[in-house]
Amino acid sequence: MASGGGSNFKAIIDRIGEGDLDAQCKFLISNNGNCGAMEHARAYGIPVYHISGKTHPDPAAYESAMLDVLNLYNVDLLILAGYMKALPVCMIQRMPNRILNIHPSLLPKYGGKGFWGIHVHEAVIAAHDTESGATVHLVSEEIDKGRILAQAKVPVLPDDTPEVLAARVLEQEHNLYWKTIKEYAAQL
Ligand code: GRF
Repeated sequence: MASGGGSNFKAIIDRIGEGDLDAQCKFLISNNGNCGAMEHARAYGIPVYHISGKTHPDPAAYESAMLDVLNLYNVDLLILAGYMKALPVCMIQRMPNRILNIHPSLLPKYGGKGFWGIHVHEAVIAAHDTESGATVHLVSEEIDKGRILAQAKVPVLPDDTPEVLAARVLEQEHNLYWKTIKEYAAQL
């Protein structure tokens, strides 16, 4: 599931294509019908589902549209790769310990409400932290609070802007996520 540029989504698909990760991506769900992640999915022939408050204004229809996709494909893991909306609780309950997310900070720092996208990196710089990074964690009902599976650290340099720091963290994310998926899947 993804909402934005889809660089994490693409990084995972590419590792599958290169044979580093023995997996199949069955579908992409996005809340954003016009995003990079959807373009990548279409280019790879992966089925895409646009499910949002606009496509499904009725909350019950919205939730059942998501569950319908899960029922159709019966996946082992659900990977959130820059999915910017809270998942419906019914999805989380449907797949306990089977939903992974990536967050652009060293959780538990800079997680939860308000800490998304560039705001995370702005807060890290404002706090004069000397290191930041990315975290892959299991999704639980409390946002950004599920069990941490892996982290990658980067330095925060004196002249960093939030955008420069974001790019440094994102580069790490691309390497961290597929490896963590591989390690976690091997334990299941
Ligand atoms: C990443 O920084 C990820 O940690 C966060 O959203 C961003 C998604 O970037 N959850 P992309 O769409 O994968 O390029």
